[in-house]
Amino acid sequence: MSGRAADTVAALAALQQEAERAIRSAGGRDDLQRLKTEYLGRKAGRVTAILRELPGLEPDDRRLVGQQANAAKAAIERLLEEADAALAERARGAAGADLTMPSRAVWRGAKHPVTLVVDRVTAIFAELGFTRYVGPEVETERNNFTALNFPPDHPALDMHDTLYLGEGVVLRTHTSPLQIRVMEAYPPPIRVLMPGMCYRRDPFDAAHAPVFSQVEGLAVDEGISFVDLKASLTHFARRFFAPGVMVRFRPSFFPFTEPSAEMDVQCQVCGGPGCPTCKYTGWSEIMGCGMVDPAVFEAVGVDPERYTGWAFGMGPARMAQQLYGIPDIRAEYEADMRLHDQLVDAT
Ligand code: DAH
Repeated sequence: MSGRAADTVAALAALQQEAERAIRSAGGRDDLQRLKTEYLGRKAGRVTAILRELPGLEPDDRRLVGQQANAAKAAIERLLEEADAALAERARGAAGADLTMPSRAVWRGAKHPVTLVVDRVTAIFAELGFTRYVGPEVETERNNFTALNFPPDHPALDMHDTLYLGEGVVLRTHTSPLQIRVMEAYPPPIRVLMPGMCYRRDPFDAAHAPVFSQVEGLAVDEGISFVDLKASLTHFARRFFAPGVMVRFRPSFFPFTEPSAEMDVQCQVCGGPGCPTCKYTGWSEIMGCGMVDPAVFEAVGVDPERYTGWAFGMGPARMAQQLYGIPDIRAEYEADMRLHDQLVDAT
């Protein structure tokens, strides 16, 4: 190799090193662009300038120096590309990523419509002086039926309707046994609200569920009459639904109340003309109620000559349908988050 060729090879190596250092300390993509022109630019690039000298060399030297120059050029090009990619990546991170990307919604939990209803019912009765009481889902047959004045041959006691866990032990079929527990634990006056889950041996269909929620209420005092029941429950319905909502009481029968009634509200889904939710009646039944039967007072040791009382049992699932306009009650059992998402801000 001639001395000139050797000098050129040494100059190329020095130039490549210099370029590498400059590229590594480049602060931005503009710097890289400038370095690309400085070293590889077609007109005045410093590597290009060396390549231009090739024709003046001996053929053997030309091939050697040419290979060296092309390798240096490729190395610098690769470094420039890598540095550019790294800077672009850093810029994306710093800017908080690509702003045009669709965002992922933050997952917000929501209370179940039945829970929303129970909370609301509890709050309204709290204003009327009712405290809250909870009790076990496994009950004695005595609390669930006998003390509530169910005759021994009542069909509800049949194994077909009630889930028996053993001799005299059932999964409570309603929240009414809580009335027994409260009256045996506390003397009158009593004003208490008792929410809870209940179990029945029912098939799962549009109108039944084997597990469901109820809210029981009980008021016991001297001089309480059916007027108190009607006024309190009507007041409740208007606080719960809307101030002008229409309610009606229909005579009914329960072993533990006398007289007994069922309270309906004007169907909130259709507003009255009739729809599948209210079975085209324009009304929706939301609770059973009545005056505590003296036989129940006797079973728990409350003097029926001195005290009277009224009680009710509500179905929060039905009430949620009415309050939130849920046409099919099965939607409340399906955990479809599209339903819950609509109720995130409900109170
Ligand atoms: N326990 C009844 C049921 O499950 C509902 C009920 C009716 C409760 C009248 C009451 C009441 O307290 O007074 O169908």
